[in-house]
Amino acid sequence: MAAPDTPEPDAPAISLHDFTDIDHSAESTYEAALVAFDALPLLQELKVLARDRTHTGPGRRVLDVGCGFGLETLRLARLVAPDGAVTGIDLSTDFIAEARRRAAEAGLDVDFVPGDAQQLPFPDDTFDVTRAERVLIYLDAPARALAELVRVTRPGGRIAIIEPDFDTNTVNVGDAALVRAVLAHEADTAVVNPRLVRDLRGELLDRGLTDVEVDSRMVVFSADLAAQYFGGIGEAAATAGAIDAADGHRWTATVDALHRDDRLFGAIGYYLFTATVPPATSPAS
Ligand SMILES: C[S@@+](CC[C@H](N)C(=O)[O-])C[C@H]1O[C@@H](n2cnc3c(N)ncnc32)[C@H](O)[C@@H]1O
Repeated sequence: MAAPDTPEPDAPAISLHDFTDIDHSAESTYEAALVAFDALPLLQELKVLARDRTHTGPGRRVLDVGCGFGLETLRLARLVAPDGAVTGIDLSTDFIAEARRRAAEAGLDVDFVPGDAQQLPFPDDTFDVTRAERVLIYLDAPARALAELVRVTRPGGRIAIIEPDFDTNTVNVGDAALVRAVLAHEADTAVVNPRLVRDLRGELLDRGLTDVEVDSRMVVFSADLAAQYFGGIGEAAATAGAIDAADGHRWTATVDALHRDDRLFGAIGYYLFTATVPPATSPAS
């Protein structure tokens, strides 16, 4: 279970909608959202499992695709030292600048480059390990990104992908019909590919990858993150007309009251996919 934390009723709302809008990626709410998700103990379990299953250790050449400002990338850099190398790539130049600042502050040598997951600027077979976490859900062409991950990973190298299924969002607001309406609106609008995980195992197999393993965690939110995230999505549903305004206010008041009483519960399902790149990979799509 995630450790409960002290409620902070006035914390700003967190939205997961805009991680493709790179002009806003360095704003504090986006940074705060990434830090808050990164800290969730059950998501941390999947990150550790991803490192273990990809044999991320000394000497490895590792690529972190959609690295944000490098929260996990810097951990990987410590793991591959002294003779390994870690590269992080992200579409947001603001996040890349912040990642470089954090690496310098930590005294870590990481190559952070701006770029698109769907068109990676690396030659074939460059890396031993390639990973992407909470990135494919935002992409217009996730299959293209998958092909790129495979292309830049050497034969026998390992791939790890961590993504949520937005239809597994759970929150303890009492009105089940209202919960269904708000969570359905969130799943249908938050990201480009809210249910992508369901086909990912098949996509990996279709590309000829082997040793395909799937794991999952129902990731329980911290109290503050639950309030910031679930608090905002009722208002978004009301603004879009998916529920009426009165229900939107009722939703927000209910989430706030649960949070104030330290009784708010929220969670979402995350999946980890790991696989090995075969000697001769399928052609990129
Ligand atoms: C939810 S964040 C996850 C960041 C990081 N993987 C983490 O776990 O902290 C999604 C990231 O994907 C990046 N992103 C979105 N579209 C991208 C693309 N086409 N190519 C590379 N990165 C992209 C965003 O800038 C953002 O940093």
